[in-house]
Amino acid sequence: MFNVAVAGMGWWGKIIVPQLKTSSKISVSKVVEPNAAAAAGLGDFARTHSVEIVTDLNDVLRDPAIQGVVLCTPHTLHADQIVAAANAGKHVFCEKPLSMNRADVLRAIKAVNDNKVALAVGHEKRFEPPILEAMRIIQSGELGTPLQIEANFSQDKFLALAADNWRLSGKEAPAGPMTATGIHLLDLSVGVFGEAERVFASVKQLGSQLVNGDTLAILVTFKKGGHALLSAVLATPFDGRFAVYCNKGWVEVRDKTHPEAPEGWVLTKTVRGGSRTVQEFPPAPNVLANLEAFADAAEGRAPYPVPQSQMIANISALEAIFQSAATGAIVDVVS
Ligand SMILES: NC(=O)c1ccc[n+]([C@@H]2O[C@H](COP(=O)([O-])OP(=O)(O)OC[C@H]3O[C@@H](n4cnc5c(N)ncnc54)[C@H](O)[C@@H]3O)[C@@H](O)[C@H]2O)c1
Repeated sequence: MFNVAVAGMGWWGKIIVPQLKTSSKISVSKVVEPNAAAAAGLGDFARTHSVEIVTDLNDVLRDPAIQGVVLCTPHTLHADQIVAAANAGKHVFCEKPLSMNRADVLRAIKAVNDNKVALAVGHEKRFEPPILEAMRIIQSGELGTPLQIEANFSQDKFLALAADNWRLSGKEAPAGPMTATGIHLLDLSVGVFGEAERVFASVKQLGSQLVNGDTLAILVTFKKGGHALLSAVLATPFDGRFAVYCNKGWVEVRDKTHPEAPEGWVLTKTVRGGSRTVQEFPPAPNVLANLEAFADAAEGRAPYPVPQSQMIANISALEAIFQSAATGAIVDVVS
């Protein structure tokens, strides 16, 4: 069994640990939480899930019983934590975004490759059965050439956060909803079209107290053709949609609920000359599927399905989106 420690026991760390406890491939024996008050409140959680609480990531990096780390920590810490973990010989699963800029993602990936450890990223939408099916349909050529993506990932969970929460800060979360939800859509778009060419992003505070912005619209153009129109709103109830329009048809995946508690999806497909088909997908543990793909990669059973080139392309476009949202300019993506 591949044994990991989960670092950062806030919202998402507490979602990840119980999921790992159901796995036959990956186990968790330690959690890292440096915030004294948060760590003190983890007693029942730690007993329920049989995990030891430590307060310093370095403790698990020195522990030979820990083979990998799952980073559920604030965004600006990710790159340095990936480098530290890789240099300690630990495989790394890092929550999104992998880093905040291209220089950092290149640095992180170099450390991972130099140390011959696996790197995985928390883009669990890639592991949703209807998204896998949509990607299979697109790659089969049945719908022709992909032309344009329309995607939305909106939610109102952040309305409940305290104003000083790091997830609402311009430093940790530039461009409002981008690092929360928009990044997942950008990742899927890179999965379809590859490297981005240029971006225009506009973020506004229109419908909430979220001063960092609650409404984000992005246009991304891609080097090999294609556009992505990405929408992310933090002041409206949950919606999730990913649609790819091609020159012979289109496919759309619509989520029924937020990924933290999936209730399933609906995939709609239209091929020119045919009738529209609608397929229901039951809930599936896609967060766990991503973590198990990490274990498979770490233990050499299968390569991690998201190539490093796409991890780099995603963060390169992310950096350009931050710049565009801050300046109002159309920004070329560095590659
Ligand atoms: N994949 C998804 O769908 C999804 C959903 C939610 C959050 N996330 C990601 O998970 C990460 C955490 O977000 P969150 O909402 O759980 O935040 P959070 O604030 O609820 O939790 C973060 C935790 O990390 C701890 N922390 C701070 N510095 C640390 C350090 N040096 N070492 C270890 N722990 C440290 C904090 O004390 C806090 O408990 C972010 O990258 C976020 O984008 C992903």
